[in-house]
This record gives sequence, C-alpha cells and structure tokens, in this order.
Amino acid sequence: IIAAFAPKQLAGRRVLITAGPTFEPIDPVRGITNLSSGKMGYAIARAARAAGAEVTLVSGPTALDAPHGVRRIAVQTAQQMHDAVMAQVPGQDVFIAVAAVADWRVANASAQKLKKTGDGDVPQLQFEQNPDILAAVAAIATQAGRPYCVGFAAESENLLQYGEEKRRRKNIPLLVGNIGHQTFGRDENELVLFDEHGAVQVPRAGKQELAQRLVAEIARRIS
Ligand code: CTP
Ligand code: CA
Repeated sequence: IIAAFAPKQLAGRRVLITAGPTFEPIDPVRGITNLSSGKMGYAIARAARAAGAEVTLVSGPTALDAPHGVRRIAVQTAQQMHDAVMAQVPGQDVFIAVAAVADWRVANASAQKLKKTGDGDVPQLQFEQNPDILAAVAAIATQAGRPYCVGFAAESENLLQYGEEKRRRKNIPLLVGNIGHQTFGRDENELVLFDEHGAVQVPRAGKQELAQRLVAEIARRIS
C-alpha cells in the first residue's frame, strides 16, 4: 500500500545506488569484509523505486533479496563495484553511495589456498588502497552537472565535525551521517544530513521510513 500511494517525487529519474559490504579475497576460500548488512541501501532503493525512479542497485554480498522492480548488479570487490558503477553513471540523475566499501584490498592475494606451514609461520598480507567510488562519480558530476551525489558516513565519534569535513573532502552536495557501527544490521538508524547550509538531524526511525525521508530530501533538492 505504501508503494501504491506514495507521491511519485522521482518519476522519470534514474537513480544509481551502492549497497552492502565489499569482499576482498585473501585466497580462493578466504577474504576480508565488514559488518554492513545492506539494509539501509536496499531500503533506499525500495523507497526510490516507490517514488517512481528507475533504480539500479550495485550490491556487494548480502543476504537480502533484490527489491521488487529494482535492477541489481551483484559484485564482490571494491574494484568490481567501482567498474560496475562507472559503467552505469552516464544517464543517471542521482548517485547514492551507501556501500561500506573496503578501503584496502590484499595486494598479494594468492591464486591458491594458503596452507599452514607446520612451523608456525603466518601469512604476511600486504594491502593497497581501493579506488574511491564516490569521489570518482563526484568528479564526473563536477564536469557533467550530474548525477547529484549523496554519500554516507558511519563515524564512531565527532560525527558533526567529521561529517561536514567528509562532505567537503568528497566534494558532494549531500552527506548522510550516522553514529557508528552499533547500527549495522539493525532495523533502526539515526541520521544527520550535511549540506551546504549545515547539519540537520533526522530523528530515529526504522530504516525504511528514514529511506523515504531521505528520498524526499533528495527529490526536493534536484527538482
Ligand atoms: N566510498 C566509496 N568508495 C570507497 C570508500 C568510500 O564510494 N573506496 C563511499 C561510501 O560508500 C560512503 C562514503 O564514501 O558513501 C564515505 O565512506 P567512508 O568510509 O565514511 O569514507 P572514507 O573516505 O573511506 O574515509 P574513512 O573510512 O577513512 O573515514
Ligand atoms: Ca572508508
């Protein structure tokens, strides 16, 4: 019923969303990931669809079903997420980066399963930095005038300061902050919106309701 009667604030708009964690392999059977459940990104995809948008969801590994009417592109690594997003960016009106992208990947990942040596030696992992997907899309938006870029930031402290700093550093018009990893996997969340006017708190609510509020805020800003 919610979808049927929701105002179509994003009718005719194309929205690209990243969601979930990424998975960075160590070897064919092991990897590094994080605690993102994907729930917030999927809720936003659902809300954008309900608002009339054509939605593409680039998702890392999650336990969630693709929202009805949303095109999902499944990826594992940050590099794959980057490549899938860059292929989809042309023609998008809005980009919402909700994924918890691994900042680093294992530079010396093994093509074969690592084996215990017997003498107690442990693997020495080296890391290299992953591409910043949001910054790459924001650079395109600066040139092309779109998509309208929205970032997320989960901080464990100093949210008001770090949120505004991150919005400026990423060069995006809107950043959504939440207070830390205690919200990962939960159905509720508490958000702060940072834009060029400052910070506004969105009261604690279910992720689907917050997603609808956020979609309405984005629709208002691009109309
Ligand atoms: N992000 C991204 N690609 C990355 C890292 C982050 O697209 N390689 C996006 C996230 O999806 C989120 C935003 O950037 O929308 C902020 O992510 P966050 O991890 O908070 O910022 P970082 O710039 O990685 O800074 P740090 O982790 O050091 O706080
Ligand atoms: Ca990060």
